[in-house]
Amino acid sequence: MKLQEGIVLLSREEFLRLSLEVNLFFQRIMKEHLFFIETSLQPVESARITEADRLKRNFEELLAESVDYARRINLSEEAIRSNEFVTPFTLRAEEISCRLTGASINTDISRRELALFKSQEYYSERIDSNIRNLNARSLSLLEEVIDYQRNILALALRCEIYTTLYADLLLHVTQEAEYYRETLTALQNRRLPRRTLCGELNFWNHIMGDHARFIACMLDPTEVRLKEAAESIAERFDILIERCMRTPEREIIGRSLAATERVRNFKRAATEGILACEIKSIMLPLLADHVLREANHYLRILRQY
Ligand SMILES: [Fe+2]
Ligand SMILES: [Fe+2]
Repeated sequence: MKLQEGIVLLSREEFLRLSLEVNLFFQRIMKEHLFFIETSLQPVESARITEADRLKRNFEELLAESVDYARRINLSEEAIRSNEFVTPFTLRAEEISCRLTGASINTDISRRELALFKSQEYYSERIDSNIRNLNARSLSLLEEVIDYQRNILALALRCEIYTTLYADLLLHVTQEAEYYRETLTALQNRRLPRRTLCGELNFWNHIMGDHARFIACMLDPTEVRLKEAAESIAERFDILIERCMRTPEREIIGRSLAATERVRNFKRAATEGILACEIKSIMLPLLADHVLREANHYLRILRQY
């Protein structure tokens, strides 16, 4: 399946499978962004905290539905094996992040997802319209989330609110929401999103570079060696973006794959170190696991090429 093709209509099975895979990954990502914003705002912003919590819970409800459907729709082997929906760390990262912040997370969803991939049932006819409807509700909730995040970013840039999230991170999560919206919109028209190879690679290489920089900036100043490693990984992604247009396809895919495997391994070690309280940082364990899953997702995209 080539992601840059946009003309061929998807078969029924492809539409169902791709919708489910995209939703299982991104609905969790979206609700976690809202959790990060919710826990970064100060008590004086109680109305905005309540709004982030409401949007987060709405995405949790949609994710819970997707998990239900995933028992009846066959996901690809690659998706199941990718560790992009939940990792072995997700549940613990959720539990610790909840305890440390007091904000809620429905951890039952993760428990069900971890048990999910063993027991899949058969297609039924009605499931088509159910999935179309789930996609439509995700799209309309996404509009609200994008507006909310853009507003938080604008307020932060005008210094009208204080948040412990970097402005660049607020922009980053909104870019991910817009990418998800573009993908879902294409799927609703029974096609794949129209993205060129460099369009797709540059988006994710930019995301991966951002992650490395966010990690570098959130580590304690005494974590010198880890900060340097993160910075050097970020620079590698900058170079990939800059050179994409004038590098042969196979080469840029291979280099992106190598860089992403490196950042994935770094994030996996960071997640373990933060969970074990062996690394000093201001990063919530769930944010570490979140960026690890995004790297796993990108690795699956790269292997499809
Ligand atoms: Fe994210
Ligand atoms: Fe991200």
